[in-house]
Amino acid sequence: MNVQRLLQEPETFHNHKVLKNGSALVLRLDMDDGPVMCKIAHANNALLEREAARIQQLKSRYPMLGARLPAILGQGVIGAGLHRDKTFYLQEFIEGSTLAGVLQREQPGPGGSVKLLRTVTSALIDMLEEHDFDTGLQGRGGQWLAEYIGEAYHRLLGLEHIGYLASLDEIVVNGRPLRSLKWCLARIFESPAFHRLNRGGSNIAVLGHWNFHAENIIIGDEARAERFHVIDPDAKIDVSDPLFGLARLLYSFPHDTAENGRYTVETDAFLPNAAECNRFDITYDWPRQVIDNYSPLYTDLADKTRNVPSFLDQRLADAGLAARLDLSFLLCLLRGVSINHDTYFKVLDDSLRTFRNTGVLLFLTAINYANDVAERFGKN
Ligand SMILES: Nc1ncnc2c1ncn2[C@@H]1O[C@H](COP(=O)(O)OP(=O)(O)O)[C@@H](O)[C@H]1O
Ligand SMILES: [Mg+2]
Repeated sequence: MNVQRLLQEPETFHNHKVLKNGSALVLRLDMDDGPVMCKIAHANNALLEREAARIQQLKSRYPMLGARLPAILGQGVIGAGLHRDKTFYLQEFIEGSTLAGVLQREQPGPGGSVKLLRTVTSALIDMLEEHDFDTGLQGRGGQWLAEYIGEAYHRLLGLEHIGYLASLDEIVVNGRPLRSLKWCLARIFESPAFHRLNRGGSNIAVLGHWNFHAENIIIGDEARAERFHVIDPDAKIDVSDPLFGLARLLYSFPHDTAENGRYTVETDAFLPNAAECNRFDITYDWPRQVIDNYSPLYTDLADKTRNVPSFLDQRLADAGLAARLDLSFLLCLLRGVSINHDTYFKVLDDSLRTFRNTGVLLFLTAINYANDVAERFGKN
């Protein structure tokens, strides 16, 4: 395909569909010889270029992961018009539905969501096992995660509203009293379970996808879900624990809930005279069936007696892997708070008591999870 010519042809955009208009513009182009995905940078050309390069590197380095990434068909810079000088890449278009789309259906397909999520999780772990580790970080794997978690924590202390919430010694979320992030992190990083993570080999890889949340997994044929594809590596992250990619799958519920505005936060904390209030209630505005579909992924929704990750794949019953996944998920949530931080509160019912603010939602989710992790690490 002659890419530059393709984008100059007047017919190219006659039949298009906008798939997403977020940090990039993502289009489906219906061409004579089939559909093509076209992703165009809005503001950050370098990031989109890195993303395309990352897809090529992953394809050449990791055979299992590479086979699931749709082929890049071309890339370049738009030559004229409003999008002039913006970077784009074209990719093979995969027909089907994202995993998020399937989970958000009232009927999540044959075998239900548990079977589907087990299939996806197991294949992702197979793919993560083919990653090369950075031997220079031997004996420092836990420490590496701790440094990044510390950095993400300090970043959110500087954010308006969030910094205030982080300064409270105790927060009550949906009736559960929670210790501060500071307290949780101290407890985690002084525990023997954490120090054990620094004794093994390296668990840090210098090349990865890092971004397997449910909107980046495409199920072509639901009867053959094991043939799923993955798209959209996170090119902002260069180095991490491969389990960070899997943590993003566990992050699908908070991510998709935030992205679709399917939640409400209720609290008196934002009333100007409510200096002492630390009580918050989160309500998820999804149909019950959708929450059930996501629940195998997410401890907060799940039956507390079952350990969610090992319920999805037995390999995650290993104490070292489970601890790394816990820290990776915590890192993912803390990063999510800063990435989504916005001082704008979407006030509902004309009341300061009821609102949507994704940074606040993810902060409350993160502090809840941090308390779980502190409890687990504190016991070991
Ligand atoms: N190659 C593709 N085949 C089919 N659908 C795609 C493809 N690439 C992207 N999409 C759809 O477009 C959405 C947004 O694309 P994505 O690359 O994930 O953008 P973003 O970086 O903004 O999340 C995806 O969630 C998916 O629904
Ligand atoms: Mg995406």
